[in-house]
Amino acid sequence: MKREQWGSRAGFILAAVGSAIGLGNIWRFPYMAYENGGGAFFVPYLFAMLTAGIPFMIMEFGLGHKLRGSAPVVFSKLNTKFEWLGWFQVGIAATIAVYYVAVIGWAMSYVGFAFDQSWGTDTNAFFFSEYLKLGDNSPSNLGNWQLHIALPMALAWAITFAAVFTGVKGGIERASKIMMPLLFVMVLLLVLRVAFLPGAVDGLNYLFTPDFSKLTDTKVWSAAYGQIFFTLSVGFAIMLAYSSYLPKKSDVTNNAFMTVLINCGFSILAGVLIFSILGYMALEQGKAVTEVVSGGVGLAFVTLPQAINLLPAPYILGPVFFLALVVAGLSSHISIIEAVTSAIIDKLNVSRKVAASSVCGIGAVISMAFATNGGLLLLDLVDYFMNNVALLASCLIELVIIGWLVKVSDIRAYVNKVSEFSVGAWLEVCVRFVSPLMLAWIVGTNLVNTFNEGYGGYAQSDLLMLGWGLTAALIAVGVIINIVSSPAKNSAEAQEANA
Ligand code: ALA
Repeated sequence: MKREQWGSRAGFILAAVGSAIGLGNIWRFPYMAYENGGGAFFVPYLFAMLTAGIPFMIMEFGLGHKLRGSAPVVFSKLNTKFEWLGWFQVGIAATIAVYYVAVIGWAMSYVGFAFDQSWGTDTNAFFFSEYLKLGDNSPSNLGNWQLHIALPMALAWAITFAAVFTGVKGGIERASKIMMPLLFVMVLLLVLRVAFLPGAVDGLNYLFTPDFSKLTDTKVWSAAYGQIFFTLSVGFAIMLAYSSYLPKKSDVTNNAFMTVLINCGFSILAGVLIFSILGYMALEQGKAVTEVVSGGVGLAFVTLPQAINLLPAPYILGPVFFLALVVAGLSSHISIIEAVTSAIIDKLNVSRKVAASSVCGIGAVISMAFATNGGLLLLDLVDYFMNNVALLASCLIELVIIGWLVKVSDIRAYVNKVSEFSVGAWLEVCVRFVSPLMLAWIVGTNLVNTFNEGYGGYAQSDLLMLGWGLTAALIAVGVIINIVSSPAKNSAEAQEANA
């Protein structure tokens, strides 16, 4: 079967940027920067972007373009023994997809609430008690299913399904061409409005003032690397699949640089947006910015609604903000699901329609675990393990394979052959030495710390089952598929060679 292709270069860039720019840029990046040293966070962030983000993007675009397959196919073409890593990455993508969609669903609900700020003045109680109905739950004691959360999630699944089912050019590319310009316009309008509010400059000072003492903390470096991989959608099967649909004549290096720079630029824009709003709110309430800021889901669904209450024309700015979150999330969700779908198409030789229907159908059912009273807690725990353990470990293994077990110089030569400008030996230095050493240190520290200290005060049994157990299960499934499919592949290759 002929592999599908993007219709145009702009279409590919918009899809890749659409994948990269997501919830991670809007609700993760600003708080992460603030919490990890403010302006000083840009040191590890830019270091991670230059030594890991850009090299990864060039490598993944190069590999996908050259080997024309989803993650399991790419790794198995490098060496049949490595196929498991592709499946591990697909597993990480599938896991992220089922909880990521929950946040998109919440954001969809909040578009509606934002019109008349029906979240009221106590936005904390509204989000946790009235909306999520979080009670005495835990990640393994989820309580009841909540229809009002499930419905917007189903809508998000329907949009993702429509795009992936329709195909690379007609579905994903077309959706990206609508969503990305819409997102940029919405965010630019928001930034232009809020950056001139009184107090905005104070908020920006908090975001950008450097606290260099944080630079000696491993957690800060781990946060920067984790954020770079998550935000760039590398290391979990997405960019390999997307670049496998590039036409033969495509400029890999240029596309990679553009994707990384647009994404990271957008993150800074989102930081300016959020912290201008926080600065304004602090001034209005006569508080310090430190007192009004919060992290993670609390930032988007508790603090910002509170700030929106105080904004001029909240019935416009509020819905636009949450719609931007929805659009950014959906274009990323489409790419995460495409990473899984593409692997199923390649491996099981089924049609896109069958693969997309099964992946979205099964995914939608599993994701309903997050539409429960305790869904947020399950999401928090699984998200922590996926980002801080599984994804970073997957990236480290990918670096070792590419840097040490296959010839990274061949990949560089290939990329240089097809691209307008050449990448120097620095790429190999980053892939073989700088990034693996940094990641080995970070992954090691994360494993030890999480093992010793746990996470978020969750019960050991929950961590064991839904954190460690889930990560180990994803690796085990990959290894099993690798073992089962390798002999078949080897014998097919032997037959081909004998023919
Ligand atoms: N890259 C996507 C994000 O940042 C997954 O949300």
